[in-house]
Amino acid sequence: MSANKDTLTITDNRTGQQYEVPIEYDTIRAMDLRQIKVNPEDFGLMTYDPAFMNTASCKSQITYIDGDKGILEYRGYPIEQLAEQSTYLEVAYLLLYGELPNEQQLQQWQYHITHHTFINENIKKVLDGFHYNAHPMGMFESMVAALSTFYPDAKEIFDVECRQKQIYRLIAKVPTIAAFASRHRIGMQYSYPDNDLSYEGNFLNMMFKTTELKYKPDPVLERALTVLFILHADHEQNCSTNAMRSIGSAHTDPFSAIAGAAAALYGPLHGGANEAVLRMLNEIGSVERVPEYVQRVKNGEFRLMGFGHRVYKNYDPRARIIKQVAYEVFEVTGKDPLLDIALELERIALEDEYFVKRRLYPNVDFYSGIIYRAMRFPVDMFPVLFAIPRTSGWIAQWVEMLNDPEQKIARPRQVYLGQRTRQYVPLAQRDGAAAQTAGR
Ligand code: CMC
Repeated sequence: MSANKDTLTITDNRTGQQYEVPIEYDTIRAMDLRQIKVNPEDFGLMTYDPAFMNTASCKSQITYIDGDKGILEYRGYPIEQLAEQSTYLEVAYLLLYGELPNEQQLQQWQYHITHHTFINENIKKVLDGFHYNAHPMGMFESMVAALSTFYPDAKEIFDVECRQKQIYRLIAKVPTIAAFASRHRIGMQYSYPDNDLSYEGNFLNMMFKTTELKYKPDPVLERALTVLFILHADHEQNCSTNAMRSIGSAHTDPFSAIAGAAAALYGPLHGGANEAVLRMLNEIGSVERVPEYVQRVKNGEFRLMGFGHRVYKNYDPRARIIKQVAYEVFEVTGKDPLLDIALELERIALEDEYFVKRRLYPNVDFYSGIIYRAMRFPVDMFPVLFAIPRTSGWIAQWVEMLNDPEQKIARPRQVYLGQRTRQYVPLAQRDGAAAQTAGR
């Protein structure tokens, strides 16, 4: 038997036949299994992997995660260093172009983003059609999708210059859309972009400006938002990024693809978790009630929101940074009483065998909501606050996918277990058996 070979030998016990398939980057290609057949007319062996538990769908050079060690890096830069020293726009540039910008590149990048922040006035009419209590994430998704109709050139996805324009537009306009959705929700006049302010400062201006002639963002809160934006900018092949790549693989324009990615992010198991955490902490209501709540989680009644992660089996490095930022924000805003409940919840959960055994730790969403609330963001804006910075990650992943010669339209296989060919039954002769299963 040969040793030290980067191959895998498979014996098909149905036929006794052996196959040798290459191993590259600790993976085998699923397509290499297709040759494994019992009969020549067989389709060939496939892998079955619901929820992509052990399937790499792409090669990527953007974000590195070591879930066991709790490491997160963007293009090789540790998230802790970026959070401490960088700005969101710098990080967005890094994600998109692979390197941190030099001074001139940064100036140009900021110039282009700043000069694309306005949205067509007609978009406001679309917004006006929403009910006063529409969820801002629903409005956000719809507005981003609507933008594709304003920019039909966005369909030219392989025209690099044209694609660059959509990148400016998307990163620049998502905060405007988000803030307008929020103000529509509370029936307040829109606050237009202020080009003198930073990306984050301008967002605060569009969210919170009232009668003042010039909005001046609090520097601590502005910096906190920067850190939160950096931490949320990318997270490799998560649910919404997979949606972005999957939609984009059909060569859809980036506005439509981002609307789809945002829809995936909206779910409570993904970016909607920050909103769910806040509702959970409110429901718990006091530190004394934490043990009872944890017991109900252990009984399987519901999940502890903001806990657990598909990839991290250690403390989410983003949660560690956010926890620190929370204290800085509270210096300005005053402490949120929900923090004590969260800290107690974390303390009990981290000691409890149920959570220890399953390696469940606080994730990015556990503390972010408390900060957002202290900064006076409405609770239902929390998933939108996730979508704004994730836009740069989605685009970076989308561009990488478009440039990857190995990628094609995403089209998984299935294991079909349903009925095979049978004869149509006329209405009068049907026994209604289907009615019992319909709607399940
Ligand atoms: N509370 C209680 N039990 C949990 C939790 C939780 N939050 N998360 C996982 N478990 C249990 C789960 O019941 C299962 O137990 P058992 O083995 O006895 O059946 C075990 O841990 C493994 O869970 P899983 O569902 O197989 O894990 P997954 O990788 O499919 O799910 C997750 C990952 C993030 C969806 C899940 O941990 C979860 O639902 N967490 C709460 C929602 C949340 O905070 N989401 C934000 C994720 S981070 C940011 C983002 O992605 O947007």
